[in-house]
Amino acid sequence: MCGIVGYIGKDDIKNRLLDGLAELEYRGYDSAGIAILQESDLSIYKATGKLENLREKAKEYSSGDTFGIGIGHTRWATHGKPTEANAHPHFAEFSYVVHNGIIENYSEIKKELTKKGCSFLSQTDTEVIVHLFEENLKEHKNTLVAFEKTISSLKGAYAILLITKNSPETIYFAKNGSPLIYGKGENGIYFASSDAPLIGSASEVVYLEDGEYGYATNSEEKFFLDFKELNPEFKKLHVNKTFAQKDGFRYFMEKEIYEQHQILLETMMGRVLEHDIVFEEFDAGILVGVESIKICACGTSYHSALAGSYLLERIAKIRTHVEIASEFRYKEPILKESELFVVISQSGETADTLEALKIAKASGLKTLAICNVDNSSIVRLADFTILTRAGIEKGVASTKAFATQIMVLWMLSLFFAKFKGHLQKSDIKKELHKMIESAASTKVDEKLHERLKKLSKRFLHGHGFFFIGRDIFFPLALEGALKLKEISYLHAEGYPAGEMKHGPIALADSELFTIALMPKNLLFEKIKSNVEEIAARDATIAAISPICIDSADDMIYIQNSDSYMVEFFEMMVVLQLFALEVSIRLGNDVDMPRNLAKSVTVE
Ligand code: F6R
Repeated sequence: MCGIVGYIGKDDIKNRLLDGLAELEYRGYDSAGIAILQESDLSIYKATGKLENLREKAKEYSSGDTFGIGIGHTRWATHGKPTEANAHPHFAEFSYVVHNGIIENYSEIKKELTKKGCSFLSQTDTEVIVHLFEENLKEHKNTLVAFEKTISSLKGAYAILLITKNSPETIYFAKNGSPLIYGKGENGIYFASSDAPLIGSASEVVYLEDGEYGYATNSEEKFFLDFKELNPEFKKLHVNKTFAQKDGFRYFMEKEIYEQHQILLETMMGRVLEHDIVFEEFDAGILVGVESIKICACGTSYHSALAGSYLLERIAKIRTHVEIASEFRYKEPILKESELFVVISQSGETADTLEALKIAKASGLKTLAICNVDNSSIVRLADFTILTRAGIEKGVASTKAFATQIMVLWMLSLFFAKFKGHLQKSDIKKELHKMIESAASTKVDEKLHERLKKLSKRFLHGHGFFFIGRDIFFPLALEGALKLKEISYLHAEGYPAGEMKHGPIALADSELFTIALMPKNLLFEKIKSNVEEIAARDATIAAISPICIDSADDMIYIQNSDSYMVEFFEMMVVLQLFALEVSIRLGNDVDMPRNLAKSVTVE
């Protein structure tokens, strides 16, 4: 995730851009940059790391009150390391671009442009945009036509702002897949990746839709879709700062739950192709000599590891063993070099996980990190990394990071299965559809959310919760219980449904709440019997299923799909929202629950 801003006007352009970027720093802070064009004079500043480094670098520059245009970017590295050369704005001879998203066909474009003599300074996918624009301009002479030609050659997701000395008062913009907002205020025209930078400056805004593009100057604005001019709908912007950062949600956790469907697409982008699955981070050679996989992680990441073990064994047919990192590190583990050692971490800084990784490295194992934060300690240490691309997660209770970890593990299982010959191209196509369906199924249905809000009031007391599931739904049950514990402070346990009869069922009475995960597509009859056993002991049962369960006191319906992974992702959202609503009713601080921290860098 990156953030972009743009400004047209004469009101201290540099600070307008820098202040806008400050509001977007939550989207990434690997590097930042700005480019300002005033009366054909171009000034560009870039710095790695946090925005304060850019502020320092650009401190001598004053935009004064001369009219000008400017664009800015804050980066969450995806293609290319977080160096200054890879920082945006990227430029060609006389044009500059900032971009949020991923250009999937950038290597093909780059090859073509290189043949024509273009040379590239960065390793990013973005740089091709600006070179392609200038090539198109040579041919078409008209900046708008050149811009249209450029964006129509791009595949993937983008929000783009482009400026050129050829038309020094204009910002060209385009949106497809990544967010872009156009705003107008007393002091100028603004662009940003979210509302936050626009609050207090723009009074009315257009939330651009996919495929829309256009240009703006101080006196003219044009919007297009499919080469036809549009009259977009401007909306008033009245929100306050706090509201904006949370994009109107009550808590960051809520916002993060709601953005999962979009984030999951970003996780898949460029990796899941129609007939193939690729990781630019490594090739299938990673598996040479590997007989089994060991995964180490903590907390929520441990739950995704457990879920991943079901996928890796079932799909890739590789023996997979999961351990809690804090247990692993002191057990004097016997490690084999034929084991691929995987660590999973949102922050990349969890001390126990990092230590487990060090042990594995010292024993000569190949190591792979599945992580959300590039350049973190874990990423720097591991031999290979897959970034989960969840963007910054602010809520202490992890939601979207979990979703992306599961998606990565699913993709990895397919990637390994392909290498081992267990998967044909046609199977990949089917899986791709399931993945897209899974991502879509995490889009929060407002009616379902309302239902969970109402239902939550019945679950504020009692002597505890059991979240039960079987197979891959068991780790999901663990995660549902953890979410509830963390933010509601109620006692909850995740349990394999088939194990209840071996002890815990003794707790069953009407004050014991059981949340049963009952997918239609995996062991439905088995879990149905387990739920009936508990219901017979008078426990209060809420079932999550597409099928009506007679023995349940409450039903939470999910859609009827043909894939247990779609059911998995949809249930995940139900559990997250359930914990959120119980916590809100109990009056707790959802985003900063007591005793917890986002990154656990101590043992
Ligand atoms: C729970 C949660 C924690 C983390 C755990 C590991 O919502 O966020 O359980 O999952 O502290 O953290 P990472 O994934 O950063 O290693």
